[in-house]
Amino acid sequence: MTLHTACRKEASPAFYFESLHRTRPAGCRVVVTGSSVRRSAVLTQPAPSDEMAVVMRFLTLVVNVLCLPLHVIHAVGLYEVYKRIFPMCLYRISKSYNKKMHDKKKELFRSLPEFTQAGGQLTLLEIGCGTGTNFEFYPRGCKVTCTDPNPHFQKYLQTSMGQNDHLAFERFVVASGEDLGSVEDGSVDAVVCTLVLCSVNNIPQTLREAHRILRPGGAFFFLEHVVADASTWTYFIQHVLQPAWHYFGDGCKLTCDTWKNVEAAGFSEVKLRHIEAPLLFLIKQHIVGYAVK
Ligand SMILES: C[S@@+](CC[C@H](N)C(=O)[O-])C[C@H]1O[C@@H](n2cnc3c(N)ncnc32)[C@H](O)[C@@H]1O
Repeated sequence: MTLHTACRKEASPAFYFESLHRTRPAGCRVVVTGSSVRRSAVLTQPAPSDEMAVVMRFLTLVVNVLCLPLHVIHAVGLYEVYKRIFPMCLYRISKSYNKKMHDKKKELFRSLPEFTQAGGQLTLLEIGCGTGTNFEFYPRGCKVTCTDPNPHFQKYLQTSMGQNDHLAFERFVVASGEDLGSVEDGSVDAVVCTLVLCSVNNIPQTLREAHRILRPGGAFFFLEHVVADASTWTYFIQHVLQPAWHYFGDGCKLTCDTWKNVEAAGFSEVKLRHIEAPLLFLIKQHIVGYAVK
């Protein structure tokens, strides 16, 4: 069964997440058509023709071969040097990203206080927090646990913490999203992931961990860039450039259809919207929303 939920009310924030996926019968497929209209195409997208698929695979191979020196650098462990530099690059990039995505983030995180338990403070854990660019959007008094597998973010995190004294910072855990073993089951009201699921090694496992540490009724908030329609040149270029982009973006993948993982992660309700971000065409397509445990 295919359910089309049209959402053409982007101008009105109150309706921002009206295109929502509620718990649905097995086999029910939800198609959300956002104002970009693009999404209806994505979920019924025609695959590239056989000839184009062959050309795409060939060019991807060429880029892979050109990346041979990078593969070697990675294999001998020298890529670790970039892991030290990456936080500095990201600190600059995320300032510009936040400027362009300010309204989208504001609208997304406006729902956070709804998940505070009566008489308590909102407890939030961020997976892959990077430099802490989301802190300014969290509500006053929110207790924040930061996690990231890259310990070199700490310096930038501390700067962001200093700039956001409306929050109560609990701790910084150096851990990957796939293994948040030091965080108890059902212990947080909200989990946040922005531009992270494209970088993790295992999206389903990361979502399982997010689901595990959320209390029943808590929510997983996400904002992620995703693959473009299979019928577009962007899709073609995303696949061809992926081998090089992987190194430039510290493991980032341009080709994730992350919305499918979120929908399959066992949440009772998923509010998800496909948007076009005012960014480079390669990372223009985003999904944004939250999923309730
Ligand atoms: C593009 S940055 C985004 C940082 C931050 N969330 C933001 O929105 O600015 C990707 C982040 O994911 C982190 N990351 C990479 N692999 C990860 C993994 N397996 N689990 C959790 N985070 C990961 C990186 O260290 C980096 O901080």
